[in-house]
Amino acid sequence: MFYFSVTMKEYFISKGIEMMLFWKKKKETKTIELDKTNIPQHIAVIMDGNGRWAKSRNLPRIAGHKEGMSTVKRIAIAADELGVKAMTMYAFSTENWKRPTEEVSFLMKLPGDFFSSFMPELQERNMRIRLIGFTDQLPEATRRVVEKAVEDTKDNTGMTLCFALNYGSRAEILQAVKEIAVDVSNGKYDAESINEEVFANHLQTNFLGDLSEPDLMIRTSGEQRLSNFLLWQLAYSEYYFTDIFWPDFSKEDLEEAILTYQKRQRRYGGLI
Ligand code: FPP
Repeated sequence: MFYFSVTMKEYFISKGIEMMLFWKKKKETKTIELDKTNIPQHIAVIMDGNGRWAKSRNLPRIAGHKEGMSTVKRIAIAADELGVKAMTMYAFSTENWKRPTEEVSFLMKLPGDFFSSFMPELQERNMRIRLIGFTDQLPEATRRVVEKAVEDTKDNTGMTLCFALNYGSRAEILQAVKEIAVDVSNGKYDAESINEEVFANHLQTNFLGDLSEPDLMIRTSGEQRLSNFLLWQLAYSEYYFTDIFWPDFSKEDLEEAILTYQKRQRRYGGLI
């Protein structure tokens, strides 16, 4: 009798585990049906959680950034395949210089690693690399690598993959204000004629034209703030926050974010 009840108990436990694994797998492999006519044209991403991803595996923080770099490629390809026209990835902020020297040096080497491994595929996909941020303040070697990537892809007509490197939105806005002030003092136009279009033309995203305002902003790792990213451009974007750390962010997670976006009603302050 005792033997019977133990084996029965084991049987039900193992069946329970089997069921849990089945539902987990079912959840993981669920196909997401997206409305192909409502894909966000420009997605901005705050790639957060690399350090915590590494820490949770007893790895140094830089291991998280290295893995995060592979995620950039995976997500850029997934976005391209879904028909996204532009992606802006927050790779290094004007505040990130405060990090330990070893981490900053590693982050500065990542673009070189990224382009030397992935450039052939980016080219094959006709992707165009662009930059925003104060790139003139980057270490010489980093600047050369990223500028070469921009140059090498300048004639491509596919998705624009824009890296925000040494980027800070307040500094970008101040730069625009200063440029406009100079234009006004030179008589190029008067203060009264400054409008949103004039202002946006002085922002670093101006090369994106109609696409300069992201439709969707994704931030990984559970933090819910903008961290000085595209403050002007994200005024009417939809925001999507997920607890997933950036290195773990998958194609399915991107689809889930887009699905959420498709369920939102964008009213731009008006009524529908
Ligand atoms: C934030 O996570 C992440 C960064 C500051 C760096 C992001 C860079 C990459 C993902 C690679 C970029 C790749 C290229 C090609 C330039 P965190 O370190 O703040 O994470 P934590 O909040 O968990 O510490």
